[in-house]
Amino acid sequence: MNSNELRKTFLDFFEKKGHKVVPSSSLLPTDPSVLFTTAGMQQFSLYLAGKKDVISDFGSCHLASCQKCFRTDDIEEIGDDTHHTFFEMLGNWSIGQDESGYFKEGAINLALEFLESIGLERKRMHITVFGGEGDILKDDEAINIWKTKGIASIRECSKKDNFWGPVSLTGPCGPCSEIHYDRGESFGCGRDDCGPNCDYCKRYVEIWNLVFMQYFKNESGDYELLNQTNIDTGIGFERLLSIIQGNNSAYDTDLFTDVISEIKKMSLNEDERAYRIIADHIRGSVFLIEAGVIPANVGQGYILRRLIRRFIRYGNILGLKKRFWVPLVEITINKYKDIYPEINKKEIYDIIEKEEDRFSLTIDRGLKIISEVNKDLSGKEAFDIYQTYGFPIEMIKEELDKKGISINDKEFELEVKKHQEVSRIGAEKKFGGVGTGENTPSLHTATHLLHSALRKILGEDVHQMGSDINNERLRFDFSFSRKMTPEEIKEVEDLINSKIKEGLKVKKEIMSLDEAIKSGALSFFKEKYPEEVSVWTIYNEDSGEIFSKEICAGPHIDDISKLKQFKIIKEESSSSGVRRIKAII
Ligand code: SER
Repeated sequence: MNSNELRKTFLDFFEKKGHKVVPSSSLLPTDPSVLFTTAGMQQFSLYLAGKKDVISDFGSCHLASCQKCFRTDDIEEIGDDTHHTFFEMLGNWSIGQDESGYFKEGAINLALEFLESIGLERKRMHITVFGGEGDILKDDEAINIWKTKGIASIRECSKKDNFWGPVSLTGPCGPCSEIHYDRGESFGCGRDDCGPNCDYCKRYVEIWNLVFMQYFKNESGDYELLNQTNIDTGIGFERLLSIIQGNNSAYDTDLFTDVISEIKKMSLNEDERAYRIIADHIRGSVFLIEAGVIPANVGQGYILRRLIRRFIRYGNILGLKKRFWVPLVEITINKYKDIYPEINKKEIYDIIEKEEDRFSLTIDRGLKIISEVNKDLSGKEAFDIYQTYGFPIEMIKEELDKKGISINDKEFELEVKKHQEVSRIGAEKKFGGVGTGENTPSLHTATHLLHSALRKILGEDVHQMGSDINNERLRFDFSFSRKMTPEEIKEVEDLINSKIKEGLKVKKEIMSLDEAIKSGALSFFKEKYPEEVSVWTIYNEDSGEIFSKEICAGPHIDDISKLKQFKIIKEESSSSGVRRIKAII
């Protein structure tokens, strides 16, 4: 089954089951607090919350769609088997319930019937369900239904894995059941505890998320029971397609094979990751431009600028010439134009062409400036080349290296970090909404709390191996040789939340690097520091007790009670001996 057939099969199936097929909404949501559409349910939020009448607007409480989605998290991870910026989500909904509506059992039966109709087997389906947490009870109803369905296994999971939503700070949400498909032993790690959400292999792939929307998360963060119950389901289309076509990755399915073989044909070098990045970013750019985004330095336009410049850079790495992307855009448009006729637009070429020209002017100017450099540069001088001419940061170093000119790396990277922090805050402030500009320093401070709490609970061998913040969560990589237990995760959360309650204060002191190290301030071994550094201390104002002390460029909040509550949403393997935590406040 090719991609067009799979989409059609899904929508036809649900239409036959009495669902109204609704076209995808735009990638740019009407809710200004969210940057992009990331899930099929977004266009139905108000109906799911019971604030609008689904029957009068759609003529049915049963809906189905294939939704264009875009996620900006983890752009750096594109190129592996499973990440994409643009992707599609198939879904069906039962909103509110008149006598014809369905809830958990109906949704489960429909999902099983559809999957079997396309050749998947129940005995290879492993189900994760919500096992209960805090005030929200275990989903016994779903568990009892699944038990009668002849599936392979049922695993109870916590809120971070099996409670979905809301998309924004407030909104409809609920416990969910996920269907994970066993692709077979050859895809597995062979461990005894291997199963859905395995940290070591991709044998089990989550294909369908069935959300039983029973709650509304309000502004105080409490879960109120909704007056109506809803079904909201979502299938990662690319994932299901790669299973149906027996491939490791969607990049090997008909969605991408034409574009990737064209890139290969033109390339002077072989680099599978670069082919995938170019193919993904071209597809993402085409759909963003179709949605009305134009390249800019902030918000959605910044994401588009980044995608275009990134695929051009990777094109250069493969030895591709100016305008190499033209046939690739054409192949992409042809692939999708029958499904989304709106993408067949000449302005897509015009906008990318202009951005490529702007980018090459920047590069020419930057190369000229660099050709005139004849002495080693301080980090600040090197960084000014970026600031003044917009020459890509990674190219400044590459070009100077070629000339045998060195720059002060420590200082350069510090300047880059400071700049990234400032531009991220700028972009988010401008954009507002989920994770505003003020959120970033908060997550930054929460990162210090996490680092310190991990060392206190797991031992002083824990060291920071990396970190990243976006507008929704912090990500923290640290050295530790095994998975954390649920008890350890809870201990870390409890410790941080108790400090938040205590209202510890945050102060900054400038000192020499030597003094900072002597004072016990933690440093990040990958970071290269200047002679004079800022040390941020989180401490109890009354007792003087210090909870955390780190060398860091900042910025931070001044009082951690502003964080309100800290929650770990994921703990997983990052690489050998390194764990990764994603957390929110
Ligand atoms: N809203 C859920 C998701 O995005 C199911 O559609 O996974």
